[in-house]
Amino acid sequence: MSKLFEPATLTTPDGTGLQLRNRTVLAPMCQYSVSARDGVPTDWHLVHLGARAAGGFGLVVAEATAVVPEGRISDRDAGLWNDAQRDAWKPVVDFARAQGAAIGIQLAHAGAKASTYPWLPAQAEGSIPMGDGGWETVGPSTTDIFGLERPHALDIPEIQASVQAWADAARRADEAGFDVVQIHGAHGYLIHQFLSPLTNHREDAYGGSYENRTRYAREVIKAVRAVWPDHKPLAIRLSGDDWVEGGWRLADTVRFVREARELGVTAFDLSSAGIGAYHGPSGPGFQVPLAAAVREALDGTDSFVTAVGLLTDPAQAEHVVVTGQADGVSVGRAALKDAHWPANAAKVLGVARDGNPRADQYWRAAW
Ligand code: FNR
Repeated sequence: MSKLFEPATLTTPDGTGLQLRNRTVLAPMCQYSVSARDGVPTDWHLVHLGARAAGGFGLVVAEATAVVPEGRISDRDAGLWNDAQRDAWKPVVDFARAQGAAIGIQLAHAGAKASTYPWLPAQAEGSIPMGDGGWETVGPSTTDIFGLERPHALDIPEIQASVQAWADAARRADEAGFDVVQIHGAHGYLIHQFLSPLTNHREDAYGGSYENRTRYAREVIKAVRAVWPDHKPLAIRLSGDDWVEGGWRLADTVRFVREARELGVTAFDLSSAGIGAYHGPSGPGFQVPLAAAVREALDGTDSFVTAVGLLTDPAQAEHVVVTGQADGVSVGRAALKDAHWPANAAKVLGVARDGNPRADQYWRAAW
């Protein structure tokens, strides 16, 4: 018996819940593969996400998808700020669902970390110059902590417009058929830039106290939840810790997830860091303690908490779930190497054929 391959339910406001066939989640991973620098997903997304849905994931989460053009990490990011993008996601959604997976989309705004060349080697780090298609970035405050062009500090009407953009993208995600929206609140992108005192130096209602720094995140959650249907779960990915004194710390995360749960978020994925140099732990399962702390904080609230980060070995993933440190695991790089990570893990864990999510077409692989 494997706990990792037991079904799970993601709670929804209407009480119906979304059933996942197992507790493995494909972590969102940017593919930098849009059609014409226009944010429109392509056949690459269909094949990449489709293969992993066929590979047995319970939930497949599509990459960081920008809610506005200036919120892209790069000009090769996917978007959901117009209907052409929405329509291009539909076949990806339909195929993944036909494989028995649920499919989510990570909505994102890179803020001050936008307009970069993430797919190029380190010597090309830095902002895309305006003359090469770059754009002015935005953030809660001007900062040079990222080693990029300083962002424009959003004024209050601009903050309100950006909250509305998250809601508009969530509405399109519903129209495209996605089962889950995951709000990207991690990795030093816009929401995290508001949360962290390292990047938020505002002196108005969006900066200073914990209450003020979390306001933008709460407003985004409320705006998305208001348009996202009651039968669909809302998820968030957070950096559980900046790993820097004076930054956003695990105690803040533990406090915030309870508030997010009250606002209708029922699935939580715990990553870390993203602001400045990395000072955190490394090694197998290095972020599991963050998920475990959140799991404990949300005990009794019908929430689904996933751990992520170097969870590559089936027994290790099973252990995380069996010991109650998390309800499921998100798998990133290991699933780039092996689209069938879940089906192969189920085999290793001794799951019988009727509980193994291997696609029928590939069942002979188990002979
Ligand atoms: C990522 N990661 C990431 N995270 C995220 O929240 N949104 C994203 O779009 C991306 N994009 C992305 C692209 C690529 C190529 C990689 C390798 C990673 C981070 C990813 O979801 C995951 O958190 C980390 O890779 C750690 O998990 P693994 O890879 O150790 O299982």
